[in-house]
Amino acid sequence: MAEVADAIRELAIRGAPAIGVAAAYALALAAARGEDLDEAAALLAASRPTAVNLVWALEQMRDDPSPAHARALHEEEVERCRAMAAHAAELFGQGTRALTHCNAGALATGGYGSAIGALRTAWERGLLECVWVDETRPLLQGSRLTAWELETAGIPHAVIADSAAASLMAAGEVDCVVTGADRIAANGDTANKIGTYSLAVLAAHHGIPLYVVAPTSTVDLATPGGPGIPIEERAPAEITTRFAARNPAFDVTPADLIAAIVTEHGVHRAPYAQSLAALV
Ligand code: MRU
Repeated sequence: MAEVADAIRELAIRGAPAIGVAAAYALALAAARGEDLDEAAALLAASRPTAVNLVWALEQMRDDPSPAHARALHEEEVERCRAMAAHAAELFGQGTRALTHCNAGALATGGYGSAIGALRTAWERGLLECVWVDETRPLLQGSRLTAWELETAGIPHAVIADSAAASLMAAGEVDCVVTGADRIAANGDTANKIGTYSLAVLAAHHGIPLYVVAPTSTVDLATPGGPGIPIEERAPAEITTRFAARNPAFDVTPADLIAAIVTEHGVHRAPYAQSLAALV
């Protein structure tokens, strides 16, 4: 179990829903080995602070930490991805050129993907022209993972430097921005990979909608707004080993910059305090 916590901390397993699924399996492993479950849950919960799916999955597993329950949780998470992808694809017009950030595909969710699931479904429906893939500094989840997933799915795409998004938007080459999420507060403020907030500001400036696609396991109604979301600070060495550095892994996009939040239940619009509250 401790090895799984290490794998989550070191990003061998990453992406909010995938972290939750891994934590569920890890708790089942701890139970099978007769380990102290409170200690195991505490160690896993501390491995990464921002993605709420982690503590959500541990809570789900509390009363039945069996392998069968972990497998069911995993399968349900993938089903949620397929359902929300179908809802999100309704937002796409013919010939959409979408921009995405980080990796919200099968690798990040246990299967199919959230934001990339939406792109996959839109592609299958003939609605998607191409995907701009932010490389996603500093760890390059976009150019290393998202580009590979899109290539595997046969979806036309091009990797761009994160700083190229503004000029592509200004040139009229981006129709929407689609991302996943690590935690969505009750008012719709959304934590996602660092750089998402910059994209949201840019998108608003250019009149381009930003859609967040995430399962309800990412919605945290106990946290009222963005200021309550813990933001992970990672090792400065991920940026540079030569100079002092600061490395926040996530940022918070204010709800008023989000055109829609899509979950497995459908497309939710502002005011999110109301549309998300209806999820419980
Ligand atoms: O640090 P990571 O790679 O775990 O960050 C992942 C992201 O920010 C994803 O965009 C987010 O988890 C949504 S994944 C469906």
